[in-house]
Amino acid sequence: MSRIPSQRSLFDIPEGIAYFNCAYHGPQLNASREALIAGLQQNSHPWERTPISFFEDAETLRRLAAELYGGDADGYAVVPAVSYGMSTVARIMEPRLRRGDTVLLIADDFPSNVLPWRRIAREVGVELRTVAHPADGDWTRAIVSAIDRSVKIVSAATCHWTNGARIDLLPIRAACRAVDAVLAVDATQTLGAMPLSIDTIQPDFLVAASYKWQLGPYGCGLFYISERWRDARPLEESWLARTNAEDFTSLADYSDAYMAGARRFDVGEKGSRTVLPGTIAALKQIKAWGIENISESIGWINSDLSDFLRELGFQVPDAERRCRHLLGARLPKGYEGNLTGELKTRGIYISQRGSSLRFAPHLHIADRDVDRLKNALRELIR
Ligand SMILES: Cc1ncc(COP(=O)(O)O)c(C=O)c1O
Repeated sequence: MSRIPSQRSLFDIPEGIAYFNCAYHGPQLNASREALIAGLQQNSHPWERTPISFFEDAETLRRLAAELYGGDADGYAVVPAVSYGMSTVARIMEPRLRRGDTVLLIADDFPSNVLPWRRIAREVGVELRTVAHPADGDWTRAIVSAIDRSVKIVSAATCHWTNGARIDLLPIRAACRAVDAVLAVDATQTLGAMPLSIDTIQPDFLVAASYKWQLGPYGCGLFYISERWRDARPLEESWLARTNAEDFTSLADYSDAYMAGARRFDVGEKGSRTVLPGTIAALKQIKAWGIENISESIGWINSDLSDFLRELGFQVPDAERRCRHLLGARLPKGYEGNLTGELKTRGIYISQRGSSLRFAPHLHIADRDVDRLKNALRELIR
């Protein structure tokens, strides 16, 4: 594990911008932009497109995902959004759920992980049980202690998206196993920035958008489906997921058989040349850096910031309660200004979620960005 120096030259971020908002939208790598422009240009020459090119990028993405996050390449589907993945999970589970069953959610989770279950609750009559923000910050224990025999599904995250609070999936996985509950994970705020192994966690389902910590384009996500569920019903019936799809001359000889693995869960038109090449370029760069090294490098920036913020009167969670790459800090008591607005006028970008400011740097951050942020905060929080 080693610290990577600022990689600013690989991004297109003007010197006057200090961008600490990767949890909102990761900055695009130059390599991704170039791959996407090449894809856009290829669309002007459709006569050059071969049938196999409708599939190749998705296969490359599956391989890269398995190398980075574990699991088998066959287990990954290409989806456009987390909502698509979670809606697929809900659709698979719906016929197995009965009135009196419980779906466990975490308080203030991102809507993509909640709305599909609210529909199921209305239509099937299952109970949605929401684990409240734990007073001691220990989400893992709070979630584990809410899992009882009525719980059939736990929809969890690796990290609370509002403030970076850490959620340890291993004990949650064990508690799910004990009552035969399904574990569905949204890893959007983790994948790419924090080591995570699907082989170790063995979730039933795991989904993550690519446009945050995976530095990919908006409109692409990875969806891992464990072997147990690979025969389940997909959300849509894409012809590109059927066994005869590669032979464009006989598509009307409809095939009722799906391609192997999780390919049936791929979104229609998965081979978009204006999306997947950007994701592939970004994952290649993440692989070259190494996720351990990314985590160490961003973690170091945040740990420096957390000491500074504490001195200014922010409430900062203990290091063991938060993910290293995402730092949520509660505003000092009595502060009533519009801090993010003020920072923006100074070219500094961070998000506020509830009463927490969310510091989400990546490797584009240079020392001068951190200095700018600290100077501005010193001036604004008196
Ligand atoms: C935890 C989490 N999940 C998912 C998303 C995005 O969801 P979707 O891809 O459905 O738009 C976000 C965006 O902020 C998020 O923070």
